Amino acid sequence: MYQRTFRLDIEKTLRALYVVGTVLKVNLNRSAPPSSTYFSVKCSPNVQYRITPPPAKSGPIPTPFNGNTVLLLTMDTASEVENDSKLSVMYYGKKTEVLGKAVVHLTAFEISLDVDADRDGQVERNNPNKGSWMWGPNGHGAILLVNCDSEHTFQKSLDSEHAEVTRVSDLKDMSPMVLRTSGPAKLPEGYKLTMHISQGDAECVRVFRSTAGMHQTLTENLFYKSFVKDYPLVVGGEDLSKEVPCLWGNAEMNFYVEGLRFPDKDFEGLISINLSMLEPSSQGFPETPIFTDRVVFRVAPWIMTPNTLDPVEVFVCSTTDNDQFLKRMRRLVEKSGCKLKICPEDMNRGDRWMQDEIEFGYIDSPHQRFPVVLDSPRDGDLQDFPYDVLLGQDFGYVTRTAYGKEVSSLDSFGNLEVSPPVTVNGKNYPLGRIIIGVAFPTAIKGRNMTKVVQDFLWAQKVQEPIALFSDWLLVGHVDEFMTFVPAPDKKGFRLLLASPDASYKLFRGLQNDGHGQAKMFDGLGAEEITVDEILSDEKLKAENNYVQSCIDWNRDVLKRELGLDDDDIIDLPILFHVMENRAVAYYPDMVNMIVLGKNLGIPKPFGPKVDGRCALEAEMTSLMGGLGLSCTYIDDFASYHKLLGEVHCGSNVRREPFSFKWWNLEM
Ligand SMILES: *[C@@H]1O[C@H](CO)[C@@H](O)[C@H](O)[C@H]1NC(C)=O
Ligand SMILES: *[C@@H]1O[C@H](CO)[C@@H](O)[C@H](O)[C@H]1NC(C)=O
Ligand SMILES: *[C@@H]1O[C@H](CO)[C@@H](O)[C@H](O)[C@H]1NC(C)=O
Repeated sequence: MYQRTFRLDIEKTLRALYVVGTVLKVNLNRSAPPSSTYFSVKCSPNVQYRITPPPAKSGPIPTPFNGNTVLLLTMDTASEVENDSKLSVMYYGKKTEVLGKAVVHLTAFEISLDVDADRDGQVERNNPNKGSWMWGPNGHGAILLVNCDSEHTFQKSLDSEHAEVTRVSDLKDMSPMVLRTSGPAKLPEGYKLTMHISQGDAECVRVFRSTAGMHQTLTENLFYKSFVKDYPLVVGGEDLSKEVPCLWGNAEMNFYVEGLRFPDKDFEGLISINLSMLEPSSQGFPETPIFTDRVVFRVAPWIMTPNTLDPVEVFVCSTTDNDQFLKRMRRLVEKSGCKLKICPEDMNRGDRWMQDEIEFGYIDSPHQRFPVVLDSPRDGDLQDFPYDVLLGQDFGYVTRTAYGKEVSSLDSFGNLEVSPPVTVNGKNYPLGRIIIGVAFPTAIKGRNMTKVVQDFLWAQKVQEPIALFSDWLLVGHVDEFMTFVPAPDKKGFRLLLASPDASYKLFRGLQNDGHGQAKMFDGLGAEEITVDEILSDEKLKAENNYVQSCIDWNRDVLKRELGLDDDDIIDLPILFHVMENRAVAYYPDMVNMIVLGKNLGIPKPFGPKVDGRCALEAEMTSLMGGLGLSCTYIDDFASYHKLLGEVHCGSNVRREPFSFKWWNLEM
């Protein structure tokens, strides 16, 4: 409970502004006339007090002083008018002669800065937990979104870049906060209420005040300037503290709180907003705070969506050479019941790697939720697409820039994935875990994902990342050797891993069954090669042994960090070969697939044909069929595979958010 020390004066009548719910602590000794021995207290009926140490029940009247005698004073309800309550203290000498009298005029106010601390979408009255933040279903604390979408579609920019409210629709991206007051119609002369935030928080938050109801009601068609005027900035940016003009009596004043920054290495995500009552001092001295109320917000993290969530929109690029690919993708997307968005050539400028430039995620709060695209520092020719096309009303944008640092292929977001929900040694990850690829910790000159992006991912906290080893690949992306597909049993998914061993086993089986002369890349002209030729290539075998050991290293990490058994993993027959000391897929890399519910869009492997049927497709279809998944093989050979990417690299999927609410995580 908020306690405030108050002093008495026997020379003049004082006034005290009391805030309901607090305690006024009056030290009686301190202001007593010298040689006072006894005292007595009188109060108006609505004032309660307690004396400590408590005098003996049957003690003398008036009460003798006992060391540091303190009066603890409270009032239950707000005053109707100023000075409607009174406290008086009489001081007596040894012979109970009167030595002096201190009188205080009391005025009680109710003041509460309120937020949605119980996370039900409503701003409740004076939640006792509003000043702190706790994770979990029994936790508490309000939530703030980074206002990273753009209400304007023409000359757009992030709403958070403007220190003003330019559209009423923007208010729903902010957290409501209400100042509730009751008491006399105005504050006693000289008192004022101020809102204040710390310097650090001022870069992360803005608070706007609504003047609606104070003089006029708003209509949607008021022009631009009106909004700026009707929602003045209270604190944020340069403004750390500002007086809040108040309607008193029984009043509510609405505020809108805007988040400006995602959690990051230097920002935990917690923000406090304080409201203080200032009391005037004598002429020439600054006011002193006599009461502070405080609310705490946590900025919502950016959350990624795994393959097990339902697809909403699929994004691909149109290029001069990928008509057939687009046609097949369109059929698959239609079959899966979602939308296909094609990024035209004038926007992609020939950059077809839709997976690599962006990652879709979302932000969520009890009052609002929207998708947010994370733009990679890769900045290929697709670099304008996320900002110019995706950013919009209720579609947010965030990026991290590696100023002055070299950006490598590992910064592409084919190297950023997320697992389905898992439980690891009793610890729940109901939003899954982020997966990135880096160099071996022992590598001398390894490529890594740039630090600013890694820092951002770790700081979001709710999908604690796992770093895999992907630098052994020429392109270096985790999606070249792993993916997740939904499954009806076990943990609700399977981890699919590329496996040269599985591939050699399948090829040897074909040879044993007399299909050694079956040709890979049938119909692709110069590429054709027989099963016998592949199996007798010693160099290829050595390369694939190395690749298998790299994948096995990652397999062990994934098993450990995701709590998986071997039964949760399916090995897919895929061969690699080595170029410039690093691996690339030898034939279209089937694990680099697009997952749309139960429909998989898989790079057509052009494997050896047995009885007119591709043996690799047959194996894949049978493995996935066991999980109730349907495989569509998409020919990406010329337009993607030959350029060192596949279906997954060339597409991206925006998915439904989790139904699990991130603030219910137990941390
Ligand atoms: C309330 O009491 C204080 C102290 O006696 C006095 O200065 C002030 O003028 C009073 N206000 C009203 C409105 O009576
Ligand atoms: C807000 O109030 C809390 C608790 O009363 C205090 O610790 C903090 O320093 C205050 N912050 C600012 C910026 O006034
Ligand atoms: C690469 O990133 C990983 C994961 O954060 C880190 O452990 C490692 O030290 C980094 N390596 C280099 C060479 O920066």
